[in-house]
Amino acid sequence: MVDQRVIVGRREPVFAYPLLVADELPPRWACDVAPVARCRGNAILAFDGGLPAMVVEPVEAALRDCLGERLSLHQVAAGESLKSVEALLDLYRVFSRSGVRRDGIVLAFGGGTVGDTVGFAAATWHRGVPWVPLPTTLLAQVDSAIGGKVGANLGGFKNQIGSFHQPSAVVVDIGWLAYLPESALVSGMGEVIKYAVGFDPYLWGLLVCQDGPVSRMKRDLLARIVRRCIELKARLVALDERDLGPRRLLNLGHTFAHALEGSGACLDHGSAVGLGVLAASRLGIRLGLCDPQVEGDLVTLMIKLGMAVNLEGSVPAALMNAWDADKKHRAIDQIVVVPTGRGSCRVVLSPPGHMVREVTESLFAPL
Ligand SMILES: NC(=O)c1ccc[n+]([C@@H]2O[C@H](COP(=O)([O-])OP(=O)(O)OC[C@H]3O[C@@H](n4cnc5c(N)ncnc54)[C@H](O)[C@@H]3O)[C@@H](O)[C@H]2O)c1
Ligand SMILES: [Zn+2]
Repeated sequence: MVDQRVIVGRREPVFAYPLLVADELPPRWACDVAPVARCRGNAILAFDGGLPAMVVEPVEAALRDCLGERLSLHQVAAGESLKSVEALLDLYRVFSRSGVRRDGIVLAFGGGTVGDTVGFAAATWHRGVPWVPLPTTLLAQVDSAIGGKVGANLGGFKNQIGSFHQPSAVVVDIGWLAYLPESALVSGMGEVIKYAVGFDPYLWGLLVCQDGPVSRMKRDLLARIVRRCIELKARLVALDERDLGPRRLLNLGHTFAHALEGSGACLDHGSAVGLGVLAASRLGIRLGLCDPQVEGDLVTLMIKLGMAVNLEGSVPAALMNAWDADKKHRAIDQIVVVPTGRGSCRVVLSPPGHMVREVTESLFAPL
């Protein structure tokens, strides 16, 4: 099923772009995506080299059908290490060789690391060229491909380099998720849990009714989850593109997640977010802002879905340093988002340090 509509915009849209969500993209989909069909310049498809050929080839064929010889291909190695200044320089050289200009288009085909890095390169090349993410991980489909945040890491800190560069369109094929390793599906659930706990009792209910781990989730349920998360994110982004107001709520779990990721703990982003949401719920309960039963329900749900609910080993010394460093990198008060129930959340400004420390350390305690 193909569903194309404008998702982001207001009564007088500041920005608006088509979203194509399909269970299986039709062969000639590219000509139906206006920014691709109308492109008169050179185009580049930057794709994750880890994608199987049966995912890459039909996409290349559909784009070739529409763009002909103006399309160049460039393979990148996905993963957090891609989000580097070196990778950006490589991309700029490739854009230059391929003759990509503002009348062209950049397509970022892969997970969140590919979207963030290639999207930032597009944002800064010739003062911004149009770009289209084709997200292939659950995390990227439910979250990172929507909203225009692009960037790279520097000096061990996440997203120190970055920009807002709204895509010209987003193309999602749920079928691409069939090739994802189980660990990447579980990781994507970290962001899904964030939406369910923080924003949407309906999504919470969908997950609670699911029987068994995410790897056994039926495709139509996965499709409903992806669509729902996209709607939730698009709604918040439309209200607050620049992350100065309600969009900040989407940082639920992320203050903890970034501290965990910065501490050298061997964790992917989505799993860190899942644990971060759990820590945030514990903080909300300690502050008297969250229904105490949320913690137990959340742990039960996460275990059922196959997600980690605690970490092995002792608390890394670097963790609290990472937390302090995260604070130093902010010009304003530390903002932590905590759940207030199953489907709601709120911002807390600079919560007491000892509480933050305790709930962070609780992630290293056996259940
Ligand atoms: N910009 C935003 O708003 C935003 C939001 C959330 C997360 N992020 C960022 O997203 C990044 C994480 O993204 P991710 O979890 O997608 O990781 P990723 O891009 O590293 O992909 C994970 C792995 O899955 C493989 N893969 C991707 N699609 C596949 C498929 N269909 N079949 C088989 N293998 C596939 C990749 O090769 C890679 O090994 C983090 O850097 C995070 O900061 C950004
Ligand atoms: Zn995230």
